[in-house]
Amino acid sequence: MRIDEKFLTEQLKYALDGVDLPFLGRRTRGKVRDLYTVGDKLVMIATDRLSAFDHILGLVPCKGQVLNELALFWFEQTRDIIPNAVLESPDPNVTIARRCTPLLVEVIVRGYITGVTGTSLWQRYSAGEREVYGIQFPNGLRKNDQLPAPIITPTTKAADGAHDALITPSAIVAQGLATAAQWEQVATAALALFARGQEIAARGGLVLVDTKYEFGLLPDGTVALIDEIHTPDSSRFWVAATLEDRRAAEQEPENFDKEFVRLYYAAQGYTGDGAPFPLPPALAVQAAERYIRAYERITRLPFMPAAMPAGARIASTMRRWADAQGE
Ligand SMILES: Nc1ncnc2c1ncn2[C@@H]1O[C@H](COP(=O)(O)OP(=O)(O)OP(=O)(O)O)[C@@H](O)[C@H]1O
Ligand SMILES: [Mg+2]
Repeated sequence: MRIDEKFLTEQLKYALDGVDLPFLGRRTRGKVRDLYTVGDKLVMIATDRLSAFDHILGLVPCKGQVLNELALFWFEQTRDIIPNAVLESPDPNVTIARRCTPLLVEVIVRGYITGVTGTSLWQRYSAGEREVYGIQFPNGLRKNDQLPAPIITPTTKAADGAHDALITPSAIVAQGLATAAQWEQVATAALALFARGQEIAARGGLVLVDTKYEFGLLPDGTVALIDEIHTPDSSRFWVAATLEDRRAAEQEPENFDKEFVRLYYAAQGYTGDGAPFPLPPALAVQAAERYIRAYERITRLPFMPAAMPAGARIASTMRRWADAQGE
């Protein structure tokens, strides 16, 4: 099957906004995933919702499947670094995870200085700040420069609608979000995960620029990687081959992530204040192409779109899954 603009335009009508599965209990909705708690398990259904600037902009066909399958790939590739919560994936859009107690910190790792929103590292640096996140930055950095070494810039995990706030490692411990020993494990794992991510992305001709990890505690207290890892939602990816030429010409790097959508919104004058305009269909198709190409470059496998419509497919798969839980 050729996954081109024509195919993805046809898929727009199938884009998945959510899946209501009353037999699994009450649905909770994250920005991107629909979630159900079933005993000690968490059912995570990746929808096609695209969130940016803390708003849902619209739907991107095939995005949920890409996110779910790409995260599964990375969980597999990193299980020697840290345990993760994944149990199984009964459907291309669904992951069943062990339900953990999330550590309420978003662990952001950055290898480059970039960003378009007002609070991004590049915006703050270019406004003259030289101490950001409690880290000293030298003069003379240009947008999209590589940092001397990757840095961890944790934020609190804000409640619905609120923006995440920066937090220092000592405040994380002081506020009881993690013990000192847990934070030490998290920070060490995050840097090792990021290095692994850069290595594997490089084989596919991509640069892993920055990313966000979430960690949680398994019932026995072990720290585990949860949520998702190294997807185009949680990470920036640039095309390695064109990076130096584009930087020399003061152009933005070619990217395979949500930054493409953010830059489009920024070019229309929207940088995060007030309600954003809805995602134009043509932009949704282009975003889908980028998500799929990112998947293919990273996994070095062709993307195989699952049977549509996804909602009905997921409902019947999950009905069987739920029946099997009782046995
Ligand atoms: N194994 C797990 N145990 C407990 N919670 C988890 C686990 N894996 C993921 N989560 C949580 O499930 C949610 C995933 O949904 P989604 O990615 O849509 O949320 P989000 O928009 O990123 O986050 P939120 O809406 O909570 O701010 C996140 O809140 C994440 O912290
Ligand atoms: Mg998330």
